[in-house]
Amino acid sequence: MVLTEEMKDAIEKDNVVFFATATPDGVPNVVPIGFARPIDNNTILIVDNYLNKTRKNLEKNPKASLVVRDASKAPYQFKGTVEIVESGKYFDDAVDWATSVMSQLAPKAAVLLKVEEIYSVQPGPDAGKKVD
Ligand SMILES: Cc1cc2nc3c(=O)[nH]c(=O)nc-3n(C[C@H](O)[C@H](O)[C@H](O)COP(=O)(O)O)c2cc1C
Repeated sequence: MVLTEEMKDAIEKDNVVFFATATPDGVPNVVPIGFARPIDNNTILIVDNYLNKTRKNLEKNPKASLVVRDASKAPYQFKGTVEIVESGKYFDDAVDWATSVMSQLAPKAAVLLKVEEIYSVQPGPDAGKKVD
């Protein structure tokens, strides 16, 4: 699954994305996330500053979904599997990014969402259809 330049731009520029997870038995949970940005053509980095239920869900069920707040600019639903890293390059990048914006932040982890499926949420005949 490949994030297009338009998709990456929308994720990068939107101030907030909505990030959904679920417990292993299917209880959904959605949170707003400010620190989310694409790091390559199929991975979105999310900085774990305050994740609580989200983090617990991901540790037991690594599947997640994301939409940008301004979905009129990027009407897509990104779905995939996360890897949580607490050291290494991506963690260091997450810390640098978050602390450069708000020095009091102390990120706990970098959550790497590997995008595996992309669906349209554009109202109309293509709504819900897989685009990649
Ligand atoms: C505008 C906004 C942006 C946020 N950005 C982040 C973020 O980048 N990283 C983070 O860990 N939590 C962020 N939060 C906090 C989470 O949305 C949420 O409070 C936290 O994950 C606890 O909820 P949970 O128990 O459902 O995981 C943000 C909250 C708001 C209101």
